[in-house]
Amino acid sequence: MVKKVLVTGGCGFLGSHVCEFYRQKGAEVIAYDNMTKQELQRTGFAVESARSYCSDFLNGIGVQVVRADVRNLGELMDHSSGCDYIIHTAAQPAMTISWEDPLLDTTTNVMGTFNVLETARKHKIPTACCATIHIYGNEINNTLKEAETRYVRDPMGIDENHPTLEGTLTPLHASKHAGDVYVKVFNDTYNLEAASFRLTGIYGTRQLGGEDHGWVANFAIRSVMDWPLTVFGTGKQARDIIYATDICEAFDAFYRTRKPGAYNIGGGPDTLISLLECIDMLGDITGKKPTVTFDPVRHGDLFYFVCDITKAKRDLGWEPKIKPREGVEMLIEWIRENKNLFGG
Ligand SMILES: NC(=O)c1ccc[n+]([C@@H]2O[C@H](COP(=O)([O-])OP(=O)(O)OC[C@H]3O[C@@H](n4cnc5c(N)ncnc54)[C@H](O)[C@@H]3O)[C@@H](O)[C@H]2O)c1
Repeated sequence: MVKKVLVTGGCGFLGSHVCEFYRQKGAEVIAYDNMTKQELQRTGFAVESARSYCSDFLNGIGVQVVRADVRNLGELMDHSSGCDYIIHTAAQPAMTISWEDPLLDTTTNVMGTFNVLETARKHKIPTACCATIHIYGNEINNTLKEAETRYVRDPMGIDENHPTLEGTLTPLHASKHAGDVYVKVFNDTYNLEAASFRLTGIYGTRQLGGEDHGWVANFAIRSVMDWPLTVFGTGKQARDIIYATDICEAFDAFYRTRKPGAYNIGGGPDTLISLLECIDMLGDITGKKPTVTFDPVRHGDLFYFVCDITKAKRDLGWEPKIKPREGVEMLIEWIRENKNLFGG
């Protein structure tokens, strides 16, 4: 059982769920976050209240919130001392920001992940890191067929043996891939018990999604707020979306099983949904059809991903539970209760 956990990016969307998950289990939890969340600035939300929202929530449930940076090895060493698990969710997660500010992207994602692993090695702490399915690259786009509302692929699922970095690359591809490679390096070279979770599209409560990052929440917020939404490309882009708490269960499964390596973590074929289908579902749940405009596809976009989660099922004994309709309804309810965060 985890007694004390350091969660980098703990005040972010996924990190806050990890913190809550371990507080509910009675663990001591440190949220380690520099409170930047760069992509918030461009959402048009009430940025200052949105920024403090997660840290206020965490303080309220007894999480120790530390304002510190993963680029600072010394601070990481100090704050992780005595922990028995590190979960590294801090990142520059947006592809758009990666090409606008490649230095921020590489220092955060490459050096940040390296520092977390180096800290874990020195303190001998098992560690789980967040990669992304983008590390496979967008050559996958050339293997798809176009159905009425989504892109399709046969076979549906993509496993961890699929080649990485194929296609047109952005700084985010390189930086998240480097983090994933460093997890293997620290495992192979130093026997660090470390896993890299290659995550698909995540959604859930406390997700301050905008056009740069977090598309399910971006669409859901705009639908509830009666704001128009923009789709880049055809809208047939599809993902096996996964609810945040299902990923918390996967982190915990890794702590118990300690089988190092890379894992594709997503909802699997049952949760595949396209942007157009998600917009339809939102209209159905809210009872009003969002206004949609279409803009050209963005540089680097990946049109399709479904995780083959066979390895995670087998090695971690884990599988996701929450289906899109149930998860999106929880998300909508949270947005309705927190309209003030978005300027409503
Ligand atoms: N949300 C998704 O759909 C998705 C998909 C695939 C992978 N991921 C990965 O999952 C992880 C969590 O994503 P998220 O959606 O919760 O992102 P998020 O932006 O909500 O949270 C990231 C947090 O990291 C913090 N942070 C950024 N730079 C930092 C630094 N230098 N030092 C300390 N803290 C820093 C931010 O302030 C923020 O609170 C990331 O690694 C991301 O790449 C997310």
